[in-house]
Amino acid sequence: MEDHPGEHFSGPSGPQVRARQEAHPCPGDRVLQVIAIDGPAASGKSTVGYAVAQRLGFLYFDTGVMYRAVTWAVLDRGVDPRDEAAVGRLAETVRIEIQAPDALHADGRQATVRVEGQDVTWAIRTPEVDKHVSLVAAHPRVRMAMTRRQREIGHRYGCGQGDKAGVVMVGRDIGTVVLPDAPLKIYLDAPVEERARRRYLELVGRGKEVSYEQVLADMRRRDTLDSHREVAPLRAAPDAVVVDTGGLTPEEVVARVVALAHERGIGREAPA
Ligand code: DC
Repeated sequence: MEDHPGEHFSGPSGPQVRARQEAHPCPGDRVLQVIAIDGPAASGKSTVGYAVAQRLGFLYFDTGVMYRAVTWAVLDRGVDPRDEAAVGRLAETVRIEIQAPDALHADGRQATVRVEGQDVTWAIRTPEVDKHVSLVAAHPRVRMAMTRRQREIGHRYGCGQGDKAGVVMVGRDIGTVVLPDAPLKIYLDAPVEERARRRYLELVGRGKEVSYEQVLADMRRRDTLDSHREVAPLRAAPDAVVVDTGGLTPEEVVARVVALAHERGIGREAPA
């Protein structure tokens, strides 16, 4: 990513969140330049979202790294991931930064992630973080703190007030909760065995010693937790376009999403 700006994600959540969600966020009636992409782990969200953002000159924003960064901080500090008060406090105060990788860090990363100044880009991708992230992300206080920051970025970039023409935001609840006003919502899906195979190959490629069975079991567990939590469970928004990535190449999915965006006046004007 060439010029992902520095962003800070911390601070208390405010009561103004609801009011902001209901009003049109941009001055005038310009189409909000936002594509929301949701779906389960390893459904292709980051590959597709990143490529779509590059094509349109949009900011690519993967909200999963925020939940992973909080989880890393929880484990690093020895906080019990089940302790909602302690985890919530940490989520509200910890300084998380997400920036474009510089030339020194051209190691395949899509962004550099720092927690209190420490580079945790790869540390947040370990099986240990995978194992605990769904539990941490299920705490309402954690979600409130993260959602507030994500919505602010979505509206700023979506209204043309960022340093990119718009934003592709990727996660589990972007179309349903974070940016329900997004004019294009995509829900990517693929069979769990296929997603586990992708994640297994990715981990082995990074030198991790894991078995396919272990990755599959963890993915099933995460699917269940993400889909059944009380607050903002993983699900397709009623107006989302559902795409099964199982039989498609990433390029085919990207082309489909870009075409849908253009039809709706995202990335360029819709035809009259
Ligand atoms: O996309 P990922 O696997 O990096 O996400 C890590 C976890 O974060 C995932 O198990 C659920 C959670 N998450 C979430 O609850 N809401 C989001 N918008 C993004 C991620």
